[in-house]
Amino acid sequence: MSKNQVQIFDTTLRDGEQVPGCKLNTAEKLLIAERLDELGVDIIEAGFPRSSPGDFNSVVEISKLVKNARVCGLTRANKKDIDAAAQALTYAKRPRIHTGIGTSESHIKYKFNSTQEKIIEKAKEAVKYAKSFVEDIEFYAEDAGRTDNEFLARICEAVIKEGATVLNIPDTTGYCLPEEYGAKMKYLKENVKGIDNVILSCHCHNDLGLATANSIAGVQHGARQIECTINGLGERAGNTALEEVVMILKQHPYLNLDTNINTKLLYSTSLLVQQHMGILVQPNKAVVGENAFAHSSGIHQDGVIKNRATYEIMNPCDVGVNESSIVLTARSGRAALAYRAKKIGMDLTKIELDKIYPEFLKFADKKKEVDDKDVQGIIESVRINMGKIAS
Ligand code: KIV
Ligand code: ZN
Repeated sequence: MSKNQVQIFDTTLRDGEQVPGCKLNTAEKLLIAERLDELGVDIIEAGFPRSSPGDFNSVVEISKLVKNARVCGLTRANKKDIDAAAQALTYAKRPRIHTGIGTSESHIKYKFNSTQEKIIEKAKEAVKYAKSFVEDIEFYAEDAGRTDNEFLARICEAVIKEGATVLNIPDTTGYCLPEEYGAKMKYLKENVKGIDNVILSCHCHNDLGLATANSIAGVQHGARQIECTINGLGERAGNTALEEVVMILKQHPYLNLDTNINTKLLYSTSLLVQQHMGILVQPNKAVVGENAFAHSSGIHQDGVIKNRATYEIMNPCDVGVNESSIVLTARSGRAALAYRAKKIGMDLTKIELDKIYPEFLKFADKKKEVDDKDVQGIIESVRINMGKIAS
């Protein structure tokens, strides 16, 4: 059975860069874009060209640089935005214009003081106009998560007729539950004429910590593109984390969904983005956090030393982390101490371990984490004392 391909649309350089303090200059954006291309993302959203001359220039330079991925520029549903995006994407080998408009009741009423009929007209005009520049047009229905499904289906059908190739269904406010978001995709699949000729895309925000779960629910119900960012950066609580969705699809092969990502580059890409965007991921961040493959309790350490699979559902090498780590703390057991001692070339006999372990615990109660030098020191001093007693 051949796997279904899920396109990975990376928006680190657009939605991710909207994070306060994350502003990058063009040279930094180029560095990250080059890495994203190498990582194997299918689409790079390079920026919002009309938003500033700097962003325009970055989209131009990224378009020139990127070899494999499609390069995408964001617009609102107006001609000036679309003109700017089309111009900025001139050098892209595979350009995409991403245009759209708010579709929820709250956006239509408060943002636009408009009506559903007028919003459909604006959406159609925008897609038609963008189509006069490039073939590949993605339409976003902003706040689709809170948009009535029937209206959402109508606007999707209308923009497909104008030539949209991808339909982005953003949960802009991160409000949906996975079941609800999945049902939305299913509803569109079943109720929109022409839907099988376009790609449905998930774009989920993490306000309630559900961005990853919602994106997975989306692809389980027919979407074939996930919009995400490295380290889950993005507006407010962020977007879906690229590394999480990619590893979920890899670790659950029965879902029969696959991506083009070279997962071995995930960890180093995360570090690159942390370094340039200045936002460090929390140690317990899934997949790329410092503790993602670190074991510190005695029970877990004993299991992992016997067989990694007892407490690890992914191989760290698959994401570019050399090996799991056994962290020595006051919660560590004898197995972990013996294991670390062996790693630094100090094999312990059972008698030695019986003497050294209580000393190790006394030390670990004072110091949060015991490093290799500490272990060596404890072993040496206990051995000296044992020698004195013996002589
Ligand atoms: O969250 C959102 O709705 C967006 C759109 C502009 C795609 O970022
Ligand atoms: Zn967004």
